[in-house]
Amino acid sequence: MFEILEKREIAPNVHRAVIHAPAIAKKARAGQFVIMMVDERSERVPFTLCDWDRQAGTVTLVIQEVGQSTRKFVLLKAGDQVAHLVGPLGVPLDVENYGTVALAAGCYGIGAVLGIARAMKQAGNRVITVVEADSSYLHYFRDELRATSDELVQTTIDGSDGIKGHSVDVIKRKLENGEQLDRVFAVGCVFMMMLAGNITKPFGVKTLVALNPIMLDGTGMCGACRVTVGKETKFACVDGPFFDAHEVDWDELWDRRAAYGEDEIHAVARTAAVTPRPARPVRLS
Ligand SMILES: Cc1cc2nc3c(=O)[nH]c(=O)nc-3n(C[C@H](O)[C@H](O)[C@H](O)COP(=O)(O)OP(=O)(O)OC[C@H]3O[C@@H](n4cnc5c(N)ncnc54)[C@H](O)[C@@H]3O)c2cc1C
Ligand code: FES
Repeated sequence: MFEILEKREIAPNVHRAVIHAPAIAKKARAGQFVIMMVDERSERVPFTLCDWDRQAGTVTLVIQEVGQSTRKFVLLKAGDQVAHLVGPLGVPLDVENYGTVALAAGCYGIGAVLGIARAMKQAGNRVITVVEADSSYLHYFRDELRATSDELVQTTIDGSDGIKGHSVDVIKRKLENGEQLDRVFAVGCVFMMMLAGNITKPFGVKTLVALNPIMLDGTGMCGACRVTVGKETKFACVDGPFFDAHEVDWDELWDRRAAYGEDEIHAVARTAAVTPRPARPVRLS
């Protein structure tokens, strides 16, 4: 069992959790993830290692509630335990001094790029982090990312904070203005990562994206996370999660992620009532 030491909602439906997992913290490296089972009967769900503290023996996750498994997790509180946490999984990123690296992130990716920003900065890179959200109240980790980036750009779709638009628009503008970007990393929804690749391809900037197919065992045995990259079959759990955005078969990734869409929607209702029931029945005089 793995104890949750801290848990806080940092934006609507987005939770930061610090979990006691010394063996994982000891080996964690930027770009890796864990697979969690909330209880003995839960699904196995992957989450990125945002941060880790080897001395304290803790790992930090940012979890966005989207369905049954993430809902089960957010119903827990500090002091509760999760049944299983396996990791670190996946191939760590090659952390080198590339020059200038740009990180594009949205949704849970804003948290997920924190460890990458820190590692790239420590390796001597100039780090530009561009985070996107629909509106200002959905942004989080501003201070953390400012501390690990040379430049933090916030974008909002409604224009309520920073630049109006998407994170990839900022990357595009920088490239069009002749700014030198030596590597781009994108973490977030499939559409955003696909756009990141489309934008950087004509400029010849190597772009790595954290693919998020459905995963089960996380060991390359079950085949659930199969993706096609450069016409070759890869398993995102053991060959990824980062792949060259210019080589990914995006249509296949969309289709495979949506395979259980209807079942997932029905599963949410089986987790817990959305409105908590009153502790005692309400007596109507
Ligand atoms: C390597 C890897 C790392 C990941 N890291 C993180 C992380 O750090 N934090 C995090 O919150 N999630 C992360 N994810 C995504 C996370 O695993 C899924 O969101 C999770 O499986 C959802 O499980 P669920 O049962 O709650 O929702 P599901 O029932 O699986 O999905 C519910 C609905 O939400 C949609 N959905 C599923 N995933 C997403 C998503 N990521 N964004 C938007 N909609 C989605 C589904 O299509 C479905 O319609 C990662 C995925 C991978 C493969
Ligand atoms: S999750 Fe089973 S092969 Fe990757």
